[in-house]
Amino acid sequence: MKITSADFIMSNQDVKKCPASQLPEYAFIGRSNVGKSSLINMLTNRKNLAKTSGRPGKTQLINHFLINKSWHLVDLPGYGYARVSKTSKAKFQKFITDYFHQRRQLVCGFVLVDVRHEPQPIDTEFMEWLGENGIPFSIIFTKADKLKPKALERNVEAYKTALLDGIWEEMPPYFITSATDATGKDDVLNYITVINETL
Ligand code: GTP
Ligand code: MG
Repeated sequence: MKITSADFIMSNQDVKKCPASQLPEYAFIGRSNVGKSSLINMLTNRKNLAKTSGRPGKTQLINHFLINKSWHLVDLPGYGYARVSKTSKAKFQKFITDYFHQRRQLVCGFVLVDVRHEPQPIDTEFMEWLGENGIPFSIIFTKADKLKPKALERNVEAYKTALLDGIWEEMPPYFITSATDATGKDDVLNYITVINETL
């Protein structure tokens, strides 16, 4: 898919106020600082469509972008950011879970994980929660540029093993990406194209 237009539509903290249109929607979620906003910019060829930051906790709202006037891409706040207060953390969690529970337009959630790290309970538990709630998701490994090919392969294999040792009988679809060198860009966009064509 070639992205010919990417427009910011709105930000909010309430799933009920998200765009009413029935366009298919793809949401990017994961720990703070994992690279959600950077990946969105890479996929859409825009430097600053989604706001990025070296400091975790940059994205605090549900952000809708309209792509090629035909589908929505959603940048979500990161979970697991230790330095936000307990109250705002709870509020965060609530509107994120509300979003996944209630957003009928959601076709697929992309759960981003930093490929440098071992599986973290916060991520695997979130995937379990998605599974239990029947919410389709795929995994996106980020920051692949930070590892040499051998280490990259080793980490992805370790992740698969960990998931298959846990509750998963099958590895969810997954993608290896880098926002820095655009690794995985075509794979992710083609995946979205194929799903959109089946809808
Ligand atoms: P929050 O909105 O705070 O939850 O973070 P986020 O997941 O949106 O992360 P963001 O895209 O803001 O990126 C966090 C940091 O990681 C920034 O300093 C990025 O430059 C860096 N980063 C993101 N993706 C990559 C990547 O693929 N490679 C490298 N080397 N750095 C990356
Ligand atoms: Mg962000």
